[in-house]
Amino acid sequence: MHFQWFTCTLLFAAHATALNRRSTLQTCPLLAKQYPSPVGLANETLFQTAIESINATLNRGLNVVPYNETTFSLGMFSALSEGLEYQYHHGDAALTASTSGTRDINADSIYRIGSISKLLTVYIFLLAADGEKYFNTPVLELVPELQQLAEDGWNPETPDFSEITIGDLAGQMAGLARDFGLADVTSDSVDVPVSIANMPAFPQLPADQIPDCGHPSANSSWLTCSQEDYLQGVATGSPIFPAAYTPVYSNEAFALIAIALSNITGSSFEAVFNETLRNTLSLADTYYTVPSDAIGRGAIPGTLLSTGFDGELGVFSPAGGYFSTLNDFSCLGRAILNSTLLSKAQTRRWFKPTSFLEDYAQGVGRPWEIFRRKVSGYSVDLYTKAGDVGTYSSFFCLVPTYDIGITLFTAWDPAGSSGGVVRDELPNLLANTILPALDQVAKGQAIVNFAGHYSNPQTNSSITISTDSNPALKVSAWVSNGVDIFNDVLGLLAPDLDLRILPNELYQGGKVGFTSYYQSAVAKPADGTWYLQCAGWIDVDELTVGNVPLGQLVFSMGEDGKASSVESRALRQVLVRQG
Ligand SMILES: *[C@@H]1O[C@H](CO)[C@@H](O)[C@H](O)[C@H]1NC(C)=O
Ligand SMILES: *[C@@H]1O[C@H](CO)[C@@H](O)[C@H](O)[C@H]1NC(C)=O
Ligand SMILES: *[C@@H]1O[C@H](CO)[C@@H](O)[C@H](O)[C@H]1NC(C)=O
Ligand SMILES: *[C@@H]1O[C@H](CO)[C@@H](O)[C@H](O)[C@H]1NC(C)=O
Ligand SMILES: *[C@@H]1O[C@H](CO)[C@@H](O)[C@H](O)[C@H]1NC(C)=O
Ligand SMILES: *[C@@H]1O[C@H](CO)[C@@H](O)[C@H](O)[C@H]1NC(C)=O
Ligand SMILES: *[C@@H]1O[C@H](CO)[C@@H](O)[C@H](O)[C@H]1NC(C)=O
Ligand SMILES: *[C@@H]1O[C@H](CO)[C@@H](O)[C@H](O)[C@H]1NC(C)=O
Repeated sequence: MHFQWFTCTLLFAAHATALNRRSTLQTCPLLAKQYPSPVGLANETLFQTAIESINATLNRGLNVVPYNETTFSLGMFSALSEGLEYQYHHGDAALTASTSGTRDINADSIYRIGSISKLLTVYIFLLAADGEKYFNTPVLELVPELQQLAEDGWNPETPDFSEITIGDLAGQMAGLARDFGLADVTSDSVDVPVSIANMPAFPQLPADQIPDCGHPSANSSWLTCSQEDYLQGVATGSPIFPAAYTPVYSNEAFALIAIALSNITGSSFEAVFNETLRNTLSLADTYYTVPSDAIGRGAIPGTLLSTGFDGELGVFSPAGGYFSTLNDFSCLGRAILNSTLLSKAQTRRWFKPTSFLEDYAQGVGRPWEIFRRKVSGYSVDLYTKAGDVGTYSSFFCLVPTYDIGITLFTAWDPAGSSGGVVRDELPNLLANTILPALDQVAKGQAIVNFAGHYSNPQTNSSITISTDSNPALKVSAWVSNGVDIFNDVLGLLAPDLDLRILPNELYQGGKVGFTSYYQSAVAKPADGTWYLQCAGWIDVDELTVGNVPLGQLVFSMGEDGKASSVESRALRQVLVRQG
């Protein structure tokens, strides 16, 4: 008795030690979609529960600041279904009291989108100028006026447009000044003009040395500068940094992109805007300038002047002057995610950072503001763009990992104290609530659609697909023609390899391809260890058979959307799903 008890304890202790050791081991996910994007969100309880929780939070907050001082429209959409998965609209007291615009906020209400305009400007450029073809072209080649205005030779006091490229402009890497043209300090190019030009501390320049590029006036006609004045100001203005040094946000850059595109297309930028966005994408509620024919649908919680609804931005419109609706933005976001107009490769290239930011979890793209979140152990990159103009603060976010998008347009009460707080706070709630739910839904659908046992008993071949608490589907057993792939093949690399499969998006039309990567679980590195940690991308599916990577698996999908068989291309085997 005593002996037996002793053995049990020992066995238990040994088991516990193994578990402890295992829990200190780690594998590293690859930067990629871990599962195919989730579909049919309307029927997914986990997603709907997340939505209801967001809805309840919004309902609870409506009578207190900042929501009671903010008119807003929130929408979520999936690229894989039509319409909006969720929408919420709120008109505040200032909207109810307003004599301009609509009282009934809905998905067709028109908001100023502020600097989200920059994203549309780059999209238009990609569409009208053959994708990234011009991204390495120096600005000087497409805006020859800058040549005449620039001084000869090297001058650290003016930007070097023979070095600055279109890609630098689009990626906030041009080193150009943020804003220009007002002899004023402004908090966001145009929104809160505070004149310091006449303060005694500042030198009083002769009038001919002040770039004449529009002056915020008592009326709402904000910026009246001509393209000629603008270009002169840019050519002679001071750079912040040289090209490609570090990201610095610039409104100027996007006015220049539009001028460069006019050169390429031979049409005015506004005409190209109309042609690509309003006509090709049928975004009839998206406007380049103030929608004077549709002010009745405007979200205007104040007067035209106090909200800035009808302020024209002139040459700066491509940086912050556009107007749109929630419905148009769900069409737009779906078209981007779904590569409706760009090629899939162009879209994938666009969804990449051009630079890190100092914060490890942020990057900058063209002109995406990228935020990285850890969801269930892997990184999800949020490609966002925010905008502020007048009393309009907005946020747009695409998440290629799950093929979903979020649009938040707000118009805050100019007489209130909330400012853009709804826009600043709500994205945190949305991402923290919705991303874990989307991960769970995607994983659940991957289990239903792919997990299980696939075999061909005639050849003693089989493969088992499963999941555990780590990201991605896992190959947990694999025998081919009686050869145990884990023991007899992968075992040559290392014992106990962890084999995961990631959707590779190489296939379409009833087939879904996966790429494998295998790694040993290793002890967590000591603090300060950086070299070669989690560098699994270097060895992705490194073993090949007959020139095909060993782990390439292609599933054939049934009418019900579930895999019916899997082909190992390397091993020339088709295995049929059991049960
Ligand atoms: C939800 O389920 C119903 C009933 O099965 C189906 O008709 C509908 O198409 C599903 N909706 C989505 C968005 O998948
Ligand atoms: C959100 O709340 C509103 C107000 O109670 C309700 O009408 C709507 O159905 C809710 N939407 C969802 C998706 O729960
Ligand atoms: C908004 O709610 C706050 C309380 O949070 C209240 O003090 C303020 O008067 C309200 N504003 C409006 C416009 O109703
Ligand atoms: C987007 O693309 C996917 C995959 O090609 C397709 O299934 C889906 O129907 C498309 N969605 C829309 C709204 O066109
Ligand atoms: C608005 O201001 C501009 C520039 O100061 C001026 O030229 C224009 O006449 C003004 N328009 C109205 C309607 O007052
Ligand atoms: C575009 O710029 C080039 C100089 O690089 C110039 O020769 C050409 O006339 C310009 N085209 C248009 C349409 O402005
Ligand atoms: C663009 O479309 C708007 C709205 O229809 C129209 O007012 C404007 O004149 C058009 N501009 C150009 C240059 O085609
Ligand atoms: C199939 O292959 C496995 C792995 O080599 C082996 O263990 C098993 O005995 C084989 N089964 C038959 C029926 O040959």
